[in-house]
Amino acid sequence: LTTATANEKKAAAEAAAALVEDGMLIGLGTGTTVAFLLPAIAARRLGGVRCVATSPATEAAARQLGLHVVDFTTVARIDLAIDGADQVSPERWLVKGGGGAHTREKVVAAAAERFVVIVSSDKLVDEIAAPVPLELLAFGLESTLAALGHAKPRAGTPPSPDGGIIADWFGRVGDPATLAAWLDSLPGLVSHGLFPPDMVSNVLIGRGSVVDRLP
Ligand code: 5RP
Repeated sequence: LTTATANEKKAAAEAAAALVEDGMLIGLGTGTTVAFLLPAIAARRLGGVRCVATSPATEAAARQLGLHVVDFTTVARIDLAIDGADQVSPERWLVKGGGGAHTREKVVAAAAERFVVIVSSDKLVDEIAAPVPLELLAFGLESTLAALGHAKPRAGTPPSPDGGIIADWFGRVGDPATLAAWLDSLPGLVSHGLFPPDMVSNVLIGRGSVVDRLP
């Protein structure tokens, strides 16, 4: 992480932390951008804020900072989810899952009233491209990989907290909606890292020391 990129992530994260209001239930993403978000939320000292975490790492970091983390099993709706991304296209398609947390991240984003994406400017792409992160059931793994064609388990990455195998798809993306629909049709696939534009409320982009919004 260069200093310039870190500063951009921090600027975007701090702008998102300013959106948090007392009493909200907040969805916390995963990754190095979210690592800047957690202290920025904690610094606001809003006693009535509760959070759900998209990974054990985020949960531990949030608790360490004194944030009130609740279990996401019995919660129906999230007010505001905030998370990073690996790629953001001009149409607001996202690729997520560089940290392998995309299944829980997508469940949280889908449950959120508002989903705000925080990125450094290097995450903006003209077109979505591989790799697309996947989470696959261990059951039938070889047959699912065969159906996927261009996919490989991610070396050295442990199973997700839900027991899934983290993998990446390396084919030609073309139209992200067509690819997402095809991936969603494969029974052995738990989830993929393509997040559609209708899931995304805002994109906050750190650019130098200012924060831009994707129009
Ligand atoms: C984790 C993710 C992250 O949001 C994505 O990988 C971006 O990470 P970072 O903030 O470290 O650049 O999807 O599964």
